Amino acid sequence: MDIQTFVDRYYVERKNTNSTKWDLLEERFGDADLLPIWVADMEFKAPDGVIEALTERVQHGAYGYSFIPDTYYDTYSNWMESRFGYKVEKEWCRPATGVVSALYWFMNCYTEEGDAVIITPPVYYPFFNVIKDLDRKLVTADMTDNDGRFELDFDLFEQRIEENDVKLFILCSPHNPAGRVWTEVELERMLAICEKHDVLVIADEIHQDFTYGEHAHTPAPLVADGKYADRILLVNAASKSFNLPGLLHANIVIQNAELRRQFDNYAGQHIKSEKNILGHIATQAAYETGEEWLDGLKSVILSNFDYLKTQLAEHIPEVKVCKLEGTYLPMIDLRGFLAPEDVKDFIQGKCKLAVDYGEWFGDAYQGYVRLNLATHPKFVEEAVNRIVTEYKKLK
Ligand SMILES: Cc1ncc(COP(=O)(O)O)c(C=O)c1O
Repeated sequence: MDIQTFVDRYYVERKNTNSTKWDLLEERFGDADLLPIWVADMEFKAPDGVIEALTERVQHGAYGYSFIPDTYYDTYSNWMESRFGYKVEKEWCRPATGVVSALYWFMNCYTEEGDAVIITPPVYYPFFNVIKDLDRKLVTADMTDNDGRFELDFDLFEQRIEENDVKLFILCSPHNPAGRVWTEVELERMLAICEKHDVLVIADEIHQDFTYGEHAHTPAPLVADGKYADRILLVNAASKSFNLPGLLHANIVIQNAELRRQFDNYAGQHIKSEKNILGHIATQAAYETGEEWLDGLKSVILSNFDYLKTQLAEHIPEVKVCKLEGTYLPMIDLRGFLAPEDVKDFIQGKCKLAVDYGEWFGDAYQGYVRLNLATHPKFVEEAVNRIVTEYKKLK
C-alpha cells in the first residue's frame, strides 16, 4: 500500500477522545496548545481486520469471562515463526495486561528488594521506574552515540555487572529510543556476559515488528542457536505494531520450565485478573490480517524519517539525527546549537511541540529529544517547520 493510500484510509483525528497523547498536554507539559509528537502511539486506525473482529465481538453484546483459544496461540506462533524463525510453543506462553505490567511481575517474581538490575540508557523510562518503584538497585551502562548510532560498551557493561553483583538485565530489543536493532553478534556478546555472571534477562521485544532495510530482529531466545534461551523472559505484543496499546494485551514467553513454574507460582498469588476479551481478539486479528497494513505504516514512517533527516540537514546542519534501524522513535541531538538546559524552552516554549526529552531516558542524554514518526506526514512537516523557523530566529 502506498503512503498516500495508507494515510487517506487510516488517518484519524484523536483530539477530544481521552487520548493521553493529545488530551493530557496541559497535565503532562503544562501547556494544552502543543503539537504532540511524543508518547508511542499513532494517529492511525488499526487494520480493517482488527476493527471487524472487534465490531463482531462488541455486537454480540455479552461480555462475560472468556479464555484465550488455541487458535490464538497458533496465530501468534505463525507470526513469530514466519517473521523471525521462532517457533513458540503454547505451553511457554502466558498472557499479560501489558509489557510494563510484565516487567513489574518479573521483577517481583525473580528478584529481591535491594538486588541490582542493569539497563542500558538511553532507554524507555519505565525501566528506571520499575527498578526504583520496587526498591531494587539501579545499575546503568550508558550507550555511546557514535555518529548517530548508539552502541554498547561491552567492557563497561560487564564491569558494571561484576562490581554490583547484578541479578537481572532488562534488554530492550529493538532499542527504544535511538532506533537501534541489535545485531545477533551484539546480542550474543550481551547474553554471554549475562551467562558468565549468572544474570537473568528480561527481553522487552515490543518493537520487534519495526526494522528496516538490512536490519533484522533476532528474538533473544534464538541467539546462538538458542544457547541462552533458558535465562530469557521474553515479552512482546501487537500493541505498538498495530496501535492497540489501550486494549491491554501482551505475550510472555518463558522456555525454561523451572522459571515458568516460578512465574506460575507468583501469578497464582499476585495476578488474579481475568483476560481482556477485546485485547486478545484484536491481537489475533492483527496477526492474521494486518501484514499489508503494517507494510503501509512502515513506508509512512520511513518517508517521515527521510523528510526529517533531509530537511534538518539542509536547514540546521548543527542538528544530528540518529540512524533509524528500527522502531519509529528516533532521537535528534540539538546540542550543536543549543545548551542542553535550553532545549526544553526552545522545543516547548518556542516551537510549541510536545516531545519526549532525552533526560527522561537517562541523565546523560539531556540535549536530545525523541520524536514519534508513526503519524500523519503533515504533523512531521509541521514539527520540522517550527524547529527550522525558530532556529532561524535564533541566528
Ligand atoms: C520498550 C517498550 N516497552 C514497553 C512499552 C509499553 O508497553 P505496554 O503498553 O504494553 O505496557 C513501550 C511503549 O512505548 C516501549 O517502548
